[in-house]
Amino acid sequence: MEALVCKKLGDPTVPISSDSSPIVISKSHPVPAVASPTSVLVRIVANSLNFATYLQIQGRYQEKPPLPFVPGSDFSGIVESVGSSVSRFKVGDKVISFVGLGSFCEFIVVDEKDLYLVPDGCDLIAAGALPVAYGTSHVALVHRAQLKPGQVLLVLGAAGGVGLSAVQIGKVCGAIVIAVARGDEKVQYLRSMGVDYVVDLSKANLIENVKNFLKSRNLKGVDVLYDPVGGKVTKESMKLLNWGANILVIGFASGEVPVIPANIALVKNWTIHGLYWGSYMLHQPGVLRKSLEELLSWLSDGLITVHISHSYSLAEAHLAFAAIKDRKVIGKVMVLPGSSTVGRSKL
Ligand SMILES: NC(=O)c1ccc[n+]([C@@H]2O[C@H](COP(=O)([O-])OP(=O)(O)OC[C@H]3O[C@@H](n4cnc5c(N)ncnc54)[C@H](OP(=O)(O)O)[C@@H]3O)[C@@H](O)[C@H]2O)c1
Repeated sequence: MEALVCKKLGDPTVPISSDSSPIVISKSHPVPAVASPTSVLVRIVANSLNFATYLQIQGRYQEKPPLPFVPGSDFSGIVESVGSSVSRFKVGDKVISFVGLGSFCEFIVVDEKDLYLVPDGCDLIAAGALPVAYGTSHVALVHRAQLKPGQVLLVLGAAGGVGLSAVQIGKVCGAIVIAVARGDEKVQYLRSMGVDYVVDLSKANLIENVKNFLKSRNLKGVDVLYDPVGGKVTKESMKLLNWGANILVIGFASGEVPVIPANIALVKNWTIHGLYWGSYMLHQPGVLRKSLEELLSWLSDGLITVHISHSYSLAEAHLAFAAIKDRKVIGKVMVLPGSSTVGRSKL
């Protein structure tokens, strides 16, 4: 089968055909065997490309797998064959799942306990983007911050993968959502999602604009900060937080780990949540399962949608990484194994 292999660390946006690319396409990677009675072989239809994979190939992520490795985490696909004691799935079922590594290829073996059935009527490619992005925002906002109707949610990096999912989940929870992004396209898209207020950081001052909005609605401040960006914008956002606010530390897309002043956290009774979604698989798998099941039902009921701004074949993976690097993505970038289509953008 075809697989994307990271053979050395480096910049994954370098064209795959170049000798200096850290990633190559292997055309004769072995199809994994259904080794245990509870294993399921899945033909992968869509891979979600996450920022973490972009960092991992550069050697800048917290988890550093030995080389060579096949990257990739969450995906959707169709059941190809099942082990002798698999009871919940049959050949032809549409499923999603996630693994620590190894989904950027055509077939993968997963234990049935880690598979989720995609409800009828849901787009299978879109469903492949749910686990990491939507899973992270759901666990953060619903399980950790316990976001309530009428609370004010401030989402940084709001047009990106996790940001856009946080915006949608915030609206489903009944929060007043303020989104922060850069550029007209992202701002227009966020407005079309029914966001209560959008700040375009390329043009406007964050604090002044959010304060004006809050005043216009008779609101005191922000109750929950969702932060996948870090750096300067996090520091500024602190000035907007209410007494008793929840801060969700999700990631550092800016490359800068922010400092949250403990003295102000004390005085203002803030709760700071560090959140690493993948580690729930190890420590609280039940929370993760319940969360993904709720997300699939929301997708099925049309409460959330997955916006895919770019999709590429495996051989075009460098273009998918470039879309993330160049901050062109609105929502998700998908990589479709087995597709020879030319990379396309829906922007
Ligand atoms: N904690 C977890 O379990 C977990 C799970 C998933 C993701 N994450 C982390 O969350 C972060 C965002 O992931 P994502 O998938 O949403 O990425 P993404 O789709 O690329 O979105 C990142 C957003 O951050 C903003 N940004 C600000 N400064 C940036 C910079 N210097 N470079 C790139 N983007 C910048 C961009 O918005 P503008 O261009 O509009 O400013 C962009 O839309 C990453 O650090 C990722 O590792 C953490």
